[in-house]
Amino acid sequence: MPEIKGKKILITAGPTHEAIDPVRFISNHSSGKMGIAIAEEALASGAEVTLICGPSNVSSSKEIKRINVQSAQNMFDAVMTEQATHDVLILSAAVADYRPKFVAENKIKKKDSKLTIELEPTPDILASLGERKRADQLLVGFALETDNELDNAKGKLKKKDCDLIVLNSLQDAGAGFGHDTNKVTILDRHNNISTFELKTKAEVAKDILRTIIAFK
Ligand code: CTP
Repeated sequence: MPEIKGKKILITAGPTHEAIDPVRFISNHSSGKMGIAIAEEALASGAEVTLICGPSNVSSSKEIKRINVQSAQNMFDAVMTEQATHDVLILSAAVADYRPKFVAENKIKKKDSKLTIELEPTPDILASLGERKRADQLLVGFALETDNELDNAKGKLKKKDCDLIVLNSLQDAGAGFGHDTNKVTILDRHNNISTFELKTKAEVAKDILRTIIAFK
């Protein structure tokens, strides 16, 4: 891709909330900062940006078309509606892998006995895009790993048919959830691996966009 300017870029960011009952949900520690930093950098580079964002306190520029969603299913539906009109799809959201199979209509009351909540898998947005993306679209996934990082990331890249995958390690101090800094390794489908230093998320966003431009 010769440049970002004029391209239409779709980015997912943040966590998802999977309802248990009207007052409780399952989620994770994602803040949305990394995905929103990519959205801002893409905008600054002249792209037209759509941000599909789970619950996050982080604001974004008004020039970014932001679609706020709650659950993995909401995010899936919004991505599928938007994806066809975009050139680059960057999936940085920390989507919940499981959701309660049944959502209680009323608040679950405390009892003396133990409570078991049955979970079912959520739709995998990245894998679905891997199956349906056009040859002219570029698909970028994220991988968050705590062990066997490179092998797991390579496996995800292949399984979900991405062009690039950005590996975040939770083993690096100052990297990952909630921090303003991050340390990433970017792998591509031709087995090229680029490693980067710990940087601000804005700088990491620039590295990710530069790698997207350089990818052939
Ligand atoms: N992802 C997605 N939809 C899901 C789960 C994950 O689109 N239901 C995307 C994430 O946005 C990310 C990538 O898949 O780009 C990898 O997410 P990650 O949680 O690291 O991997 P999983 O496939 O969920 O595998 P595991 O949790 O077993 O490591």
